[in-house]
Amino acid sequence: MAESLFVDKSLSLDEQYENLLKQLKSLLVKEDNLLSNLSNFVASIKQTFSKVSWVGLYFLDGNNLYLGPFQGKIACTNIAFGEGVCGNSAKDKKIIIVPDISKFEGHIACDSGTKSEIVVPVFNEEKVFAVLDIDSLEYNSFDKTDAKYLENMCNFLSTFISNNTNKIL
Ligand code: SME
Repeated sequence: MAESLFVDKSLSLDEQYENLLKQLKSLLVKEDNLLSNLSNFVASIKQTFSKVSWVGLYFLDGNNLYLGPFQGKIACTNIAFGEGVCGNSAKDKKIIIVPDISKFEGHIACDSGTKSEIVVPVFNEEKVFAVLDIDSLEYNSFDKTDAKYLENMCNFLSTFISNNTNKIL
């Protein structure tokens, strides 16, 4: 089914997120394959925000995070649990906002042009299923407003993820 996303970059940041979340509720379809929904989830963020240079999901499997659906330059495929921004977000089950990646010890730079980043855990019940990683080529691109709405979006995404019914393929 052809999909479309209405984007109005003249809106405030809050309004852009509210507009995106409202559309995600019809764009993502429970009957679809989980990978398809995850792919459109990521693509909708890239399509909406000019400040985003890279956005993707890393799936947690044992002690590693593996690259999933993403938009942007090619990226590292495997991140150790507890390493980098992604691995720490998964370990601590917390959102991490990095205003300047040069000041984040152990930052993993897939794109040398990245200046700031935000990582949000995606849960399957109480367990971390994945992390949503978003990069920007500008400093200070993400703040508490992004964190609030991205957490809401990831909580919505979690409703598509369950132990027994959704398979990635
Ligand atoms: N910067 C991330 C690694 C993923 S690439 O940016 C896509 C990190 O430090 O975990």
